[in-house]
Amino acid sequence: MAYKNILTQNENSVCTITVNRPDKLNALNKETIAEVGQAIKAAEGDASVRVIIITGAGAKSFVAGADISEFATYTAEQGKDLARHGQQVFNSIEQCSKPVIAAVNGFALGGGCELAMACHIRYASENAKFGQPEVKLGLTPGYAGTQRLPRLIGMGRAIELLITGDMIDAQEALRAGLVNKVTTQEELMNACFQLAGKIIQQAPVAIAEVLKCVRDYESKSTDGFETEINSFGHCITTEDFKEGTAAFLEKRKPVFRGK
Ligand code: COA
Repeated sequence: MAYKNILTQNENSVCTITVNRPDKLNALNKETIAEVGQAIKAAEGDASVRVIIITGAGAKSFVAGADISEFATYTAEQGKDLARHGQQVFNSIEQCSKPVIAAVNGFALGGGCELAMACHIRYASENAKFGQPEVKLGLTPGYAGTQRLPRLIGMGRAIELLITGDMIDAQEALRAGLVNKVTTQEELMNACFQLAGKIIQQAPVAIAEVLKCVRDYESKSTDGFETEINSFGHCITTEDFKEGTAAFLEKRKPVFRGK
């Protein structure tokens, strides 16, 4: 599919989605958010894709936020629609049945930090900077920054960042638990591909079920403990489970087919 503001590449079972507006530091206008949503849906539906990586074009920025020029004159209703649509797309990332890794290669501010937080795992290069600067514009975050930041780094630290608009660097993000790993700029994509490579060796159905169970840990409507019981019961009936246990007993590497 041809996109205007993003690039997609499928290689070795990994789909890389690159937000591609480097002259605007990859700021997310409405069209770009919609394209990210379409690309996630396409990758989830593509049986050849096992892991998705999201990154930003250029050496400076992952995503520097929602496109401020777009909503400067919005009404309340337009503002709510914008936030709702962004949240829907970001929720579709969090709910994706395939692991989504954020390769944070620079500024991850506002909607950029929120996009990274909607991903399942975050790796960052050492020049990355994270923050929710919306209060500096007289706004709250709109793409669930107030919800995902406290979950990832705890209430106290999250509130401090949310109400000062301060940025933190990659090392501080690592200490806070916002990212799993920090690499040099040159190494970032390689590190993400290595991680994807490890994930790809595991059983696809089990991975999708683990993502579902962990998501339900935070759900107010579904009991995650019950989800885990059901997922365990489901996985035990799969061909992948038969293959995994047979391979273990036969002292060989399993070949999983995602069934
Ligand atoms: N929305 C729209 N345009 C943006 C943007 C955003 N969130 N972030 C950066 N840009 C644009 C700038 O307007 C500039 O465009 P121009 O060259 O046409 O004037 C271009 O990207 C480069 O940004 P610039 O500010 O010149 O780079 P910098 O290195 O001096 O500063 C930042 C980098 C990230 C600190 C700064 O761009 C910034 O504060 N951006 C806004 C971050 C923000 O508030 N995000 C949350 C939005 S809700």
